[in-house]
Amino acid sequence: MNGKKFYITTPIYYVNDKPHIGHAYTTILADVLTRFQKKSGISSYFLTGLDEHGQKVQQAAEKQGIEPQRHCDEMAPRFVELWEKLHISYDDFIRTTEERHKTIVRQILQEVYDRGDIYEDEYEGLYSVTEERFITEKEAESGEFRDIKKLKEKNYFFKMSYYQQKLIDHINSNPGFIQPEHRKNEVLGFLQKPLNDLCISRPKSRLNWGIELPFNSDYVTYVWFDALINYVSAIGFGKNEDEFRKWWPASYHLIGKDILTTHCVYWPTMLMSIGVELPDSIFAHGWWLSGESKMSKSLGNVINPIDLIDDYGVDPVRYYLMREMVLGQDAKFTVDSFIKRYNSDLANDFGNLLSRVSTLMKKNYDGKIPETGDLTISEEDIRTTGESLVNTVETKISSMEVNEAIEEILQYVRKVNKYMEEKAPWKLVKEDKESAGTVLYTAGEALRISAVLLSPVMPNRTEILLEALNAYGGDLNWGGLKPGSELKDHKPLFPRVK
Ligand code: MSP
Repeated sequence: MNGKKFYITTPIYYVNDKPHIGHAYTTILADVLTRFQKKSGISSYFLTGLDEHGQKVQQAAEKQGIEPQRHCDEMAPRFVELWEKLHISYDDFIRTTEERHKTIVRQILQEVYDRGDIYEDEYEGLYSVTEERFITEKEAESGEFRDIKKLKEKNYFFKMSYYQQKLIDHINSNPGFIQPEHRKNEVLGFLQKPLNDLCISRPKSRLNWGIELPFNSDYVTYVWFDALINYVSAIGFGKNEDEFRKWWPASYHLIGKDILTTHCVYWPTMLMSIGVELPDSIFAHGWWLSGESKMSKSLGNVINPIDLIDDYGVDPVRYYLMREMVLGQDAKFTVDSFIKRYNSDLANDFGNLLSRVSTLMKKNYDGKIPETGDLTISEEDIRTTGESLVNTVETKISSMEVNEAIEEILQYVRKVNKYMEEKAPWKLVKEDKESAGTVLYTAGEALRISAVLLSPVMPNRTEILLEALNAYGGDLNWGGLKPGSELKDHKPLFPRVK
């Protein structure tokens, strides 16, 4: 990752369907990582958007009997509204039907063509309508593809094979380029066989919802060749060199494992053809499974994020998704495990610590943060653990171990709860008010630091918590709570759910 700037992208989502928890996950992850970077003072740019061309979108529009553009215009607000509801603070939202994108796609196509990397050829083969690509005999036999037709057509091809060795060399000499490791090995395995050239056109007679080829108006561009370019068209490629240089190369392209080849083979070879640096890293996460199977509309098992938000609030949903998935592996989503996680981590541990601390301060210290007296070894321990936690979280986040970073914070919260039980300030206050004040200050300060660390994951509830403690700003140094400052009333942070 480039230390000075941070540019992160999500896949651009197809508008053939409304967004589900899988889409929400990648977008929340990008948001959380960006918020962490911004907190560390690193200038960051977060791009998301929509993939609006291609067969899937054309078919979805046809099904409704409307023009594809109208279908896209009707679908786009659903994504924008969901991102608003999920408190996603992206810097740009690109739609591939926007002129700013289409112009750059045409420009790049022309450039690749002029360099001699695009040629015309007749191709006969098996075509999967659902996958929108020609497939091999072997793939057809695998039974994984539906809607297979035999097709013979003249098309344009990108000389992807020409860049095969260069790509292998790049992957080998840049260990972080494809993450996690097992995905890198998967791509290298794929590259052991000779790479085919990529068919980048579709005759208009078959599909007309796409960007017209600049060198032949009878064809539109293959949707992936169009879509991948969003990562550079959004930040000024070919138009505003300064802006483009400010952000490129991307620190991370976040993707799901289903779109590994397009991002790790098509995209880098396209960039090589036009002489643009490759992104620093492509990170593929696993799938959210509904029970045992992948969430998909056709299986009818999708979890609608809006329902969850309406029932439990945004921050718990963000928390669960970030805490539960080990980045790179699949994770199972069930409402039961969601409720369990909510009650144990958020209600019992985190929320409970706030209510204990604030109730005792209100009752015994006129609703103010108490002064600290002499520190015992226990207070020193809470303080030093808190200080090293800040570094641990930073390290875990930069190595994409988001779930572990969260778990470290929660372990700290549990430790502080245990400290409270051992010290029992509700009893201690009757004999030694100063010592009890020291305990409450220490627990409150540890809670404040935990909340600041969790704020990229749960921006709203942690803000309520910090307001309740009258502690603003995101200082991670010990001592942010000011003795004598007044506590604010607050509602229970995470009421238990049944
Ligand atoms: N339009 C392409 C991407 C083009 S990027 C230049 C596309 N769109 S998609 O809408 O079908 O899916 C995009 C991404 O959504 C997946 O790669 C993945 O990141 C996310 N997910 C969709 N379903 C998912 C799960 N069940 N679980 C986790 N993420 C999944 O592919």
